Amino acid sequence: MSFRIQPAAPARPNRCQLFGPASNTKLFEKMAASAADVINIDLEDSVAPDDKEMARANAIKAINEVDWNSKTLSVRINGLDTPYWYRDVVDLLEQAGERLDQIMIPKVGCAEDIYAVDALVTAIERAKGRDKRIAFEVIIESAAGIAHVEAIAAASPRLQAMSLGAADFAASMGMATTGIGGTQENYYMLHEGQKHWSDPWHWAQTAIVAACRTHGVLPVDGPFGDFSDDEGFIAQARRSATLGMVGKWAIHPKQIALANQVFTPSEEAVTEAREILAAMEEAKAKGEGATVYKGRLVDIASIKQAEVIVKQAEMIAAQN
Ligand code: COA
Ligand code: MG
Repeated sequence: MSFRIQPAAPARPNRCQLFGPASNTKLFEKMAASAADVINIDLEDSVAPDDKEMARANAIKAINEVDWNSKTLSVRINGLDTPYWYRDVVDLLEQAGERLDQIMIPKVGCAEDIYAVDALVTAIERAKGRDKRIAFEVIIESAAGIAHVEAIAAASPRLQAMSLGAADFAASMGMATTGIGGTQENYYMLHEGQKHWSDPWHWAQTAIVAACRTHGVLPVDGPFGDFSDDEGFIAQARRSATLGMVGKWAIHPKQIALANQVFTPSEEAVTEAREILAAMEEAKAKGEGATVYKGRLVDIASIKQAEVIVKQAEMIAAQN
């Protein structure tokens, strides 16, 4: 057991991150009026190369003029392998007001990628006298990203959240799929002639959760491409929540309610967590470190598990 205390992740709801291309200005007001906790205005892969400059200007105007109420407002910049990213950072930091909370850095491959953006952002913040420090979020969506995930999670005190980007990740890994997340037809075990589907994203998700929890960063599940498949989205989101992720992206507004539903602890779960805490209080009063709750063992570790659920529920209630 390490003597180091695991740092807490930022205490803000991150159940759903809604994306929209910055080239599509008619979406901004709709995004602001949505029930998503986090808004990601995209300058990267949903914007065509010829539209990059226009999209950047649209994003800055929207940050400054739209009422984003209490949402976490983030802009996804272009990757460090493109000629666009430095201008994204410079224009955003010089021209967008203090309402901007975060920039999302895609396709991060190593800690130095974060260092480079951090150096640029820090210099502009100082030069312009910006009061609020811009936070970072990153996408792990390459072989290098997952290989260096722990160093990336530790790379900057600005880092608040880390998402798995299934499509680019699959491409970088050479995975035989064109789906964006979800069940993969060919990923099954065969037992007595029956197929049992397995989860090809499990390892990457778990690696991200472990890196994030070690360094106080929010782990987030990325996009689910088939927005006509609600059941598939919910199944993917439930697996992510079970593994410790706090939220999921929406690439269409109909996915927002689904994500909020899965990543908001249910009343039953909160009640049960409170009952476990009460049972453990009673046990403690009797000088016992373990007791029985509904026919199963609960002990000091159960307190921590129950507290995760209660804290999550309290944070969401405080936001609403
Ligand atoms: N945010 C807010 N509102 C959105 C939205 C979004 N991302 N996407 C669509 N809407 C709105 C539409 O404007 C439409 O509104 P209306 O009823 O007032 O006309 C309504 O939701 C239904 O939209 P629909 O017709 O089903 O979808 P579409 O064909 O207009 O758009 C996409 C589909 C996928 C192109 C669009 O949802 C989109 O751009 N998603 C984000 C893509 C992205 O950012 N990708 C990068 C991250 S992977
Ligand atoms: Mg991507």
